[in-house]
Amino acid sequence: MDVPKVIIFDTTLRDGEQTPGVCLEASEKLEIAQALAKLNVDVIEAGFPVASPGDFASVSQIAAQVKGPVIAGLARAEQKDIDAAVQALTKAQRRRIHTFIATSDIHMQHKLKMSRLQVLERAIDAVRYAKKFTEDVEFSAEDASRSDWDFLCQIYEGVITAGATVINVPDTVGYTTPDEFGALIRYIREHVANIDKAIISAHCHNDLGMAVANSLAAFRNGAMQIECTINGLGERAGNVALEELVMALHTRSDYYQARTEIDTRQLYRTSRLVSALSGIMVQPNKAVVGDNAFAHESGIHQHGVLNNASTYEIMRPENIGISRNSIVLGKHSGRHAFEQRLNILGYELDEQNLTALFIRFKELADRKKIIFDRDIEALITDRPAVKPEWYRLAYYQVVSGDKTLATACVKLETNVGSIEQASCGSGPVDAAFKAIEQAVGFAVDLKDYQLKAVTAGEDALGEATVWIEQDNRLFIGRGLSTDIIEASAKAYLNAINKMLAACGCPAEKQIAGRAQ
Ligand code: KIV
Ligand code: ZN
Repeated sequence: MDVPKVIIFDTTLRDGEQTPGVCLEASEKLEIAQALAKLNVDVIEAGFPVASPGDFASVSQIAAQVKGPVIAGLARAEQKDIDAAVQALTKAQRRRIHTFIATSDIHMQHKLKMSRLQVLERAIDAVRYAKKFTEDVEFSAEDASRSDWDFLCQIYEGVITAGATVINVPDTVGYTTPDEFGALIRYIREHVANIDKAIISAHCHNDLGMAVANSLAAFRNGAMQIECTINGLGERAGNVALEELVMALHTRSDYYQARTEIDTRQLYRTSRLVSALSGIMVQPNKAVVGDNAFAHESGIHQHGVLNNASTYEIMRPENIGISRNSIVLGKHSGRHAFEQRLNILGYELDEQNLTALFIRFKELADRKKIIFDRDIEALITDRPAVKPEWYRLAYYQVVSGDKTLATACVKLETNVGSIEQASCGSGPVDAAFKAIEQAVGFAVDLKDYQLKAVTAGEDALGEATVWIEQDNRLFIGRGLSTDIIEASAKAYLNAINKMLAACGCPAEKQIAGRAQ
């Protein structure tokens, strides 16, 4: 039987990037957009082009290079925003302008300082203007769930007449409940005279933990597009988690009678990629993609699953791209076996990247007996994202103990020679960071630091993440090693290199003055 398709609109790169502490480089955004295309989402909201030159450049790059999904750009209901979105989307195969204005009394009174009539006229004008550039125009009534329902219907009717092809109903502050939101969608469906000319979309936030439930209720009442983000990233408590929504529709297709075109086997890998690049870890008990989502602790459960997985598993891990066989390769594994394993995990690398990764795999296999899938995934997401890499860690040494002041010595390689410095600190990581600061010759504003083991075992890979700030901008650095001090030092340098690339690099001469 042919069941209706739910359109998956991904806003990881726009609403998701508004997560506190997240700041993605253009190359990282492109990598995520490519992963989303592989996941087969229908629409990628690539950014908010008018917001900054960086956002504009990144939307343009995604529009030019990512094929398949519709590429959307966000714009307030203002001509200059729409112009920026149009320009950024010029090279997209298929493009959408997504324009919005707030419609709740609270927002109109306290934020916009506009009357209902003014908002209505502005929304209609914006859609009419956007329509001159593209057929595909989405209109969002920000804070719709706290807006007057009849005013909302009036505004949706007006924008559809002006040419909107999608009308989005955001629960901007995550205030609604499933029954209430379902009823609102039904009300819109029944009271907007020209609703048959547009698709209804739902955009929910997760402040009360109900974003997925609210979106499913919206679908049950006529919303055919759902807006979501990978891992539920987003402002405050985040948005609808794409993987949860898709797997709910997929696993309970008997109930929802709907389908998506998502390649669910790419879900896990995309979740890991977004987590690594955003620096936002996935909680272990997170539905679908958390570490414990398929772990069975109790003996009774383990026994049941061994006899028949369906006793305690409602989804198959393979269907979201998690392999059951997690012990994979070791020091004697060849390139062919390595490539095969990558393919099973859903990665297809070109020759150059494959060769580089295979070298790193061999180096790791020398330090670690068994290489798990998680190790391979960590290696893949650990490619240096900044070019040029101004500073590279050549060597480090630390001395620490409970009765000694920790000291570290680091040697950094640059294109014009090397720099060596030593420093003390309150622990080995602190000492290494201070020695690096002395080597680069400026103070670094460290905001946060995290360390986690990629897998279990005493020879596990450690993954360090650091956040540094410069001119109110955050830069995230990552480092990977079986040695946690090395992982931390690499993460620190990675963040510093990113900062230098974005804020203007030190002149080579200046480095040369300190390098030997
Ligand atoms: O939450 C919200 O209202 C939004 C709109 C811009 C769609 O993100
Ligand atoms: Zn939002």
